Amino acid sequence: MKQRQQFKRLFEPVRIGQMELKNRIVMLPMENNYATEDGSVTERLKNYYRERAREVGLVGIQITCIDSPVGKGYVYQLCIHDDALIPGLSELVQTIHDSGAKVYIQLHHAGANARGQDIVAASPLPLLPSSVIPKELTVSEIKDIILRYVTAAERAKKAGFDAVEVVASGNYLVWNFLSPTWNKRRDEYGGDLRGRARLFIEIIHAIKAKVGESYPVTCRLAIGEYGVEGGLTVKEAQQVVQMARDASLDGVTTTAIGDGSTVPDYPGALLSLSTAIKQVVTLPVTTAGRMDLEVGERALEEGKADLVGIGRRLLADPGYVAKAASGRFDEITPCIACMVCIETSLLRNVPLRCAVNPACGLENEYKLIPADKPKRVMVVGGGPAGMEAAIVAAQRGHQVTLYEKEPRLGRQLIVAAIPPNKDKIESLTTHLTTQVRKVGVKVELGKEVSRATVEAAKPDTLVLATGIENIIPDILNIDEANVAFAEDVLTGRVEVGIEVAIIGGNLVGCETAEFLVNRGMKVTIVEILDRLATKMNPLLAMRLLDRLTKRGVIIVTGVKHEEYKDNTLVITTKEGAEKTIRADTVILAAGSRPNTKLLQTLEGLTSEIHSVGDCVEPRNFTEAIAEAFNIGRTI
Ligand SMILES: Cc1cc2nc3c(=O)[nH]c(=O)nc-3n(C[C@H](O)[C@H](O)[C@H](O)COP(=O)(O)O)c2cc1C
Ligand code: SF4
Repeated sequence: MKQRQQFKRLFEPVRIGQMELKNRIVMLPMENNYATEDGSVTERLKNYYRERAREVGLVGIQITCIDSPVGKGYVYQLCIHDDALIPGLSELVQTIHDSGAKVYIQLHHAGANARGQDIVAASPLPLLPSSVIPKELTVSEIKDIILRYVTAAERAKKAGFDAVEVVASGNYLVWNFLSPTWNKRRDEYGGDLRGRARLFIEIIHAIKAKVGESYPVTCRLAIGEYGVEGGLTVKEAQQVVQMARDASLDGVTTTAIGDGSTVPDYPGALLSLSTAIKQVVTLPVTTAGRMDLEVGERALEEGKADLVGIGRRLLADPGYVAKAASGRFDEITPCIACMVCIETSLLRNVPLRCAVNPACGLENEYKLIPADKPKRVMVVGGGPAGMEAAIVAAQRGHQVTLYEKEPRLGRQLIVAAIPPNKDKIESLTTHLTTQVRKVGVKVELGKEVSRATVEAAKPDTLVLATGIENIIPDILNIDEANVAFAEDVLTGRVEVGIEVAIIGGNLVGCETAEFLVNRGMKVTIVEILDRLATKMNPLLAMRLLDRLTKRGVIIVTGVKHEEYKDNTLVITTKEGAEKTIRADTVILAAGSRPNTKLLQTLEGLTSEIHSVGDCVEPRNFTEAIAEAFNIGRTI
C-alpha cells in the first residue's frame, strides 16, 4: 500500500528482548478507571482495548496496582495484587492477542499518590501542601514491596502477558524514590543516584530472577520535572537506564513529568528524551509525547527512537493508525489536547471520557446501527452538537439537512479556538465540517430557520442545536456603544479600547482576558463570585489564572456591578465600598442561557423534535457532542 511506504520504518518488525512485534507502533498505557472497584477486568476494558489493538504492534496496559489498597491510586484502577484477578487478566490478554498485537502490563504502586490516609513514600513529604503526609517506608517494608512486584510479575506471566513494565514515572512510588526532590532518605535507598535508584534496580533484578531472564521487563521512565525545580536530570536518567540495563532491563519508554499543562505538547516535543537514552544504551527505546505517524517515522529514520508511542490520538479515534497509514487523514477525529481524559480519569477519578469521542469506553454500547427506516432529518444549528448529530444520523442512513444561519459551520467552536493555546480546536472544526460533507449531509448556510421553514420542509425528525443566548447583566447604561460581548471581541467583530473591564470571570472571561492582555490591553476582570474559573478543569484553571496574574490582569471578585458611565465601570466591592474602574470598553462574559426561541414557536408541529447541546443547557462541548452523538445514534 502506497501510504505504508511512507511509514516504512514504522511498519517494520522489531524485538524488545524476546518479544517480537509486527510493527513499531505502541498504544501507550492510559489509566482509564474502567476496571471494577476491586480492580477486576471488565467487558468495558476489553472492548476499549479490542477497538484500539488492531493496527499497533504493542499495547501497553495502564498502571495496574500490585499492592491494594495501600498502593492503589484510582477508584476503578486495574489490579494485579491477587491470584483471583488472573482469569480476568487472561481474558484481556486474549482479546488483545486476537486483535494481532502483543501486550505488556504496567506494574504500579502509587506511593504518595495513593488514595486514603495510610499512604507510603520514600520520605514523609506531602505531594501538595494540602495532601496527606505519607509514611516513610522502612527497609523491611521496601523489601516487602519488591516481593509484591515479583508476585505481580508472576501473575502477569501466568495470565499470558508478553512483558511487564515497571512504572518509574508520574510521581508514583518508584519515581518518588528516584527523584532528589522527593527522596530525602539517608539510608541505602536514598542519598546519591545509586541509592535513589536502588528500589528500581532491585525490582528489575528480583522480577528477572523469578520469572526468568528471557521474560521481557521494560520500564516507563520520567526524565526531568517540567514546571518544577529539581527532579531527575537527563544525565541521571541516562545513568539509571545504564544501571537497569545491567540488571537485564529489556526496553524503555521515555516520558516527561509535569502537571499536564507544563509539559510541551506537540509532536516531537519530547524526542530529546528518547534520543538521550539511545545515546547511552542499545536497548529499544519507545518515544512518547503527542507523537503522530509522520513525526514518528522521521524520528525512527533519524535514530531518535526505536518505537513510537501513541496515546490520546487513539482515545480520540481508535482507528487513528489505520486511517493515517492508509492516507485517510481527513477521516481522523483529532485529539484537541483539551485534557478532559485526564480530568475525568486521573483528577475526578471517574471513568475516562474523551471530549471528541463519546464512544470512548462505550465501544459496544455506542456501535452505530443502520436505521431501520431512513428518515428525513432536519438539524438546526451548525455548532459542534448540530454537526455531530447530523453526521451520526447520516452515517446511519438518514437523509439529513443541516441549517446554519451564519455563512460557515462551527459556531462556538470557531470562537473557542481563538484564545491563546486553543488553536488545536480548529482541527475539530475542520474535521466535523469535512465529515458533514463526506457523509452526505445537505448543508444550508446563511439560513435562519423559522416555523415556516420547518412546516415547508416537513422533516420526520427535527433536531434543534440552536445554542445559546448571551446573558446581559443588570448594569445601568449597559446598552452603551462601547459595550461588547466577549465573542464579538474574540472574532474581531468589535474593536476594543486600551483599558477594558471584563464582566464575568469564568472560562470565556478569563480566556478573553488573556487574549487581550497579550495584545497590550490593560485588563480588569470583575466577577460576582468569590473565585474565577469555577467551571473549568482545575489544572487548566490554575495555569490560566497564574498566567493572567503574571501578565498583570487585575482581578476583582465578589463584586456587585452598578453602572457604566463616562468610560468608567462603577462597582461595589465585597467589603461594601464603591470603586471605579476605567474602561474604554466593557466586555460581557457573564454567562449564557439556552436559545429556545425557535422551539417556542413550534408547538403543534407533527415532527419528532429533539433538542441537543447548549440549547438544552449551556455546558462544555464534551457534553454537547456526547448528547448529539446519542440523538444521532437513536433517531
Ligand atoms: C488519561 C491518561 C492516562 C494516562 N495514564 C498513564 C498510565 O497509566 N501509565 C503511563 O505510563 N502513562 C500514562 N499516561 C501518559 C501516556 O501514556 C502518554 O505518555 C501521554 O498521554 C503522552 O502521549 P500522547 O500525547 O500520545 O497522549 C496517561 C495519559 C493520559 C492522557
Ligand atoms: S480530545 Fe481531549 S479528551 Fe480526547 S484524548 Fe484528546 S485530550 Fe483527551
